Amino acid sequence: MLTIAIAKGRMQHEALQLLARAGVRVGAEALASRRLAVEDESGVYRFVFVKPADVPVYVEHGIADCGVVGRDVLLESEADLLQPLDLKIARCRIAVAAKDGSRGERPGVLHVATKYPRVAAAHFGSRGVPVEIIELSGSVELAAVLGLSDCIVDLVETGRTLAENGLAVIETITESTGRLVVNRASYQLKSDAVGVLIRDLSRVLAADGDVS
Ligand code: PRP
Repeated sequence: MLTIAIAKGRMQHEALQLLARAGVRVGAEALASRRLAVEDESGVYRFVFVKPADVPVYVEHGIADCGVVGRDVLLESEADLLQPLDLKIARCRIAVAAKDGSRGERPGVLHVATKYPRVAAAHFGSRGVPVEIIELSGSVELAAVLGLSDCIVDLVETGRTLAENGLAVIETITESTGRLVVNRASYQLKSDAVGVLIRDLSRVLAADGDVS
């Protein structure tokens, strides 16, 4: 049996839809339940639903053989994982945003609120902009609205959250999509099963005209 960790939230629905198209189906009853681990209808796969940032942790430790998680999360994670497929789901971007689309001309250190401290530090570091990173775990837009920070580095999907809070994108740092990640040992020891999963997902992606 292969255990697959799925990032709960924005990724979950699209990930399960893609897997269903690849022939891996989880019953409606199992999905409607509050169980955190459920099997697919064939009994070949077990799914665990965890917070996005925890997916690399479960996969790196081999508790899950595979995972489905956003590139945004992987950029912040130091986990050593294989990343065989870009699943092209949950497409979004990590962007710098601020009130009126301007981070202002205030001299000195730029205050940046984010739940992506590594991405933000690397981005401003590469431009030689001195920053103080204020790490938050959610509703990051509020920091710029209330003046906790000069700007934010956050995920933008539809742009609705920014627009409805009087913020606008200054620049895009990078794009993100859902990725299939695989534990290094599982890739060797369960090569047949992992290979079947990669093959079946690749077939669906190819049908969409999107092979990576
Ligand atoms: C993300 C992100 C933005 C929002 C962007 O938050 O941090 O707040 O979604 O989406 P939009 O461009 O479609 O409006 P998430 O819903 O993951 O929750 P969080 O604020 O708790 O991080």
